[in-house]
Amino acid sequence: MGIQNHIKSFVVRSSKISDRIDKIYQAERSKYLIEFPQSPESALIPDEHWSFYDSIGSLNKDELPLIIEIGTGQGDNFAKCAAEDPEHFYVGIEVYEPGIAHTVFLLNKGFESNDFEPVRNAAIIRADVFHLFKQNFFGTGADATDTFEVWIFFPDPWPKKKHHKRRLLDDEFKELIIATFSKQPTIRIATDIEDYAEQISAVFNVNKTERFDRRVLTNFEKKGLAKGREISDYTV
Ligand SMILES: C[S@@+](CC[C@H](N)C(=O)[O-])C[C@H]1O[C@@H](n2cnc3c(N)ncnc32)[C@H](O)[C@@H]1O
Repeated sequence: MGIQNHIKSFVVRSSKISDRIDKIYQAERSKYLIEFPQSPESALIPDEHWSFYDSIGSLNKDELPLIIEIGTGQGDNFAKCAAEDPEHFYVGIEVYEPGIAHTVFLLNKGFESNDFEPVRNAAIIRADVFHLFKQNFFGTGADATDTFEVWIFFPDPWPKKKHHKRRLLDDEFKELIIATFSKQPTIRIATDIEDYAEQISAVFNVNKTERFDRRVLTNFEKKGLAKGREISDYTV
């Protein structure tokens, strides 16, 4: 199956970006955002000019070790963790533009209740992570700066059995992570869906661990808790 035909782990949603967020997003996006010229939800890497070094490498001038968060959503966890940890360079991967816009807003403006200086140790790639890994985007330089951790918090749940094939975390994705990084990063995962937790446990051959203490309580997690769901954390 060609990568363009690969079943997507997300649906392309359109929702409006509020004027307040959009103003900051348009003004600041070039400082944070890495986009591909064609089809942002796929990321076809056109040539070597889109290598890791030519994009993120130039933003990560101090060559800080990387923390990669896949599916940053609204960016609450991503922006706060980056702001609190200047020793690492944070790379977010997300396809949902309103979420990216909110993340840029947080990185630039800070949280309303707890303002901080604009975050400079962070970048967001607007792309399907599957396509990035499949085209070895990180293999073109990520190892030089050393990927320290990969985080995947609350991947899209796809609860119906007929949709399980859309789940991001499966054997193929595990193999892609292994193929991408020559030094294996620590992988941290959280989910609130019981049978996805079982799938993750089987794919990565790990048991549930304690809640990762840096993980920020996002609205997504709050909704799961409000429905009485158990949250499962994994460290691979
Ligand atoms: C359920 S949300 C969770 C967001 C956030 N991590 C949180 O805890 O609130 C999952 C996110 O992953 C993103 N996503 C799903 N598949 C993706 C893919 N293949 N590449 C990049 N982002 C993806 C979705 O757009 C969505 O924003």
